[in-house]
Amino acid sequence: MLPVVTARACANIALVKYWGKRDAALNLPATGSLSLTLDALTTETTVAFDESLADDQLVLDGVPAKPDDVERISRFLDLVRTEAGVPINARVTSRNDFPTASGLASSASGFAALALAATRAAGLTLEPQALSILARRGSGSAARSIFGGFVRMHAGARTEDSYAEPITSIPADFLANLRMVVAVIGGGVPKTHGSRDAMDHTAATSPMYRAWLDLVPKDLATAEAAIAKGDLEALGTLAEANAMAMHASALAARPAVVYWHPATLGVLAEVRGLRSSGQPVWATMDAGPHVKILTTAAAAELVSSALVDNAGVTAVTVSAPGPAAEVVDASKIVSFA
Ligand code: PMV
Repeated sequence: MLPVVTARACANIALVKYWGKRDAALNLPATGSLSLTLDALTTETTVAFDESLADDQLVLDGVPAKPDDVERISRFLDLVRTEAGVPINARVTSRNDFPTASGLASSASGFAALALAATRAAGLTLEPQALSILARRGSGSAARSIFGGFVRMHAGARTEDSYAEPITSIPADFLANLRMVVAVIGGGVPKTHGSRDAMDHTAATSPMYRAWLDLVPKDLATAEAAIAKGDLEALGTLAEANAMAMHASALAARPAVVYWHPATLGVLAEVRGLRSSGQPVWATMDAGPHVKILTTAAAAELVSSALVDNAGVTAVTVSAPGPAAEVVDASKIVSFA
């Protein structure tokens, strides 16, 4: 008898980015990273292992998924099946409350929710660290979405020590006063260059990649120090610079990896304008055209209304720091006997 389990996980946005692997098979990142989990971008995933299924099935946002996506989920479920000793196919239903695969971190929340739902549905209860290691195998950034708030990811030397953990020594109210304003550009259509291929291509061809690898440990130390002091200006300045450095390494790849749309530059200029008028705003970007702005709860509404009228901005969402991944329903017990 195996339960049908639904789990929810929030996306996270890296303030110090992960961009490049040192082991593709184990999905081991080349460097550590540091992120903020967001409450407004969530994935809810239900997993049912069912002996009557000839293959794994995946329904994504109400539509049967493409064969490539099913294949990626199946390979991930194989890890769970092996660990649990449950050689049974699964039905996976997953829903994002934001655009999928467009550079809004859907793979992070997606694989974190899947790791939690699938392990529980297979009868396993993993410790958060083991769950983070498992989620990493699906997507590097998913290791961080197991946890809420600020999260650090260890590059680690081996698979067992490449996991994420929450950053807990934070001055009172620092986290509660933070907001991330997400400006969606171009309607959130699927991105042209998936992060997995784009980071491999950057690592293989960009003359800036070595500089990126040298930079990240220093940026991680600066970000950790800023968080420990509750210094938002230092954290925001660092996060914006780190995102630009990641994109610089990608832009220098041959051929270039260009995620930026004209509207991206418009929003980045708006952020600089708001900052010079005294607003606490710093931008970061991932593998897509969207701009995410780190700011305060007090400034978030003003920032959001300043961005919504920019040409090419199709939606603006304000997000508070989000919680750890959690099981939301494990009530239905199905017997396949
Ligand atoms: O975990 P992936 O393969 O979706 O890669 C994430 C890459 C970035 O979003 C660009 C950076 C990061 O650390 O989240």
